[in-house]
Amino acid sequence: MEPAVIARDLTKVYPKARAGPPALSKVNLSIPAGQVYGLIGRNGAGKTTFVRIAATQLMPTGGSITVLGRDAVADASEVRRRIACVPQESRPLYFLDVDQLVYLYLRLRGMDRSEARRRTDSVLEELGLSAVRKKLVNQLSGGMRRRAMVAMVLASDAEVVYLDEPTTGLDPLARREVWGAIRRASQEHRTVLLTTHYLDEADALSARLALLEGGEVRLEGTPSDLRARIRHPYRVTVEGVLGRSELQSYGEVSDIASGFLVFARESSARDLAIFALGKGARVSMGPVSLEDIFLQVVGRSIEEEASEGAES
Ligand SMILES: Nc1ncnc2c1ncn2[C@@H]1O[C@H](COP(=O)(O)OP(=O)(O)OP(=O)(O)O)[C@@H](O)[C@H]1O
Ligand SMILES: [Mg+2]
Repeated sequence: MEPAVIARDLTKVYPKARAGPPALSKVNLSIPAGQVYGLIGRNGAGKTTFVRIAATQLMPTGGSITVLGRDAVADASEVRRRIACVPQESRPLYFLDVDQLVYLYLRLRGMDRSEARRRTDSVLEELGLSAVRKKLVNQLSGGMRRRAMVAMVLASDAEVVYLDEPTTGLDPLARREVWGAIRRASQEHRTVLLTTHYLDEADALSARLALLEGGEVRLEGTPSDLRARIRHPYRVTVEGVLGRSELQSYGEVSDIASGFLVFARESSARDLAIFALGKGARVSMGPVSLEDIFLQVVGRSIEEEASEGAES
């Protein structure tokens, strides 16, 4: 099956930001159809810029992007009919209640009455919004308003759905309700492009991921591809007895509240665990989390920036 979104050398320089680096710099990404694709990266990495271009809301300044085989710039109106988007900063229409918000959105997209009714009821139930369905949207709490926006686009029949930080500010239970709805969308073979700062969420939901840093793709692949591609794919925590200097030869050591965290290659991690247990330390060992990968990759690029700055 053809990928849902293909970006080729996609570049964006905002009009008033010509002096700095581009918000996106020759980004090449291929987002498979029918899966959840995670886009991660620190603040300002370019995630929202990518989403807005892919959602036809913003023009690129270089390269190209196709969505469902159509050019997102030249065929924007055709693309728009087949996508739906929850922007990062979004406020739904305040004079509607929650039920109307979802139902009218589906009707505006051309869905017939009975299907729109059925889907509205089911999404409100799924996202825990049934109890507030008659409340005006502007009387909702921030997290509920966010959920209402997510409900609206996930209930639609859009083939590609863009969710820019859909769970920011949601309580842990509400987040999991949104996860369920996102998973169901992908079971229906819809494509979901998800940006998030919750890396457990990115890991749990995404079939593939891209890590953006400074407008460039730093890592791309399945969660296990990402683990395989970093220098230190194992994490070992060591508590008690041992000092930093005794750990440094095994990998990258950092302080944690209860002792030290060491990122290491598999063989060094094993050697370290045996050594530390032999000395009577408490040890735990496992593969790195997505958060660890993020810290290793982004942390290194921050260090590089700092040393380049010092040299020049
Ligand atoms: N309208 C704009 N005009 C000028 N520069 C902008 C504009 N919008 C974003 N930028 C810049 O483009 C870069 C990428 O921003 P973007 O919003 O895409 O990042 P992001 O990865 O979504 O960050 P966050 O995690 O904070 O949402 C940043 O340097 C930002 O300052
Ligand atoms: Mg953003």
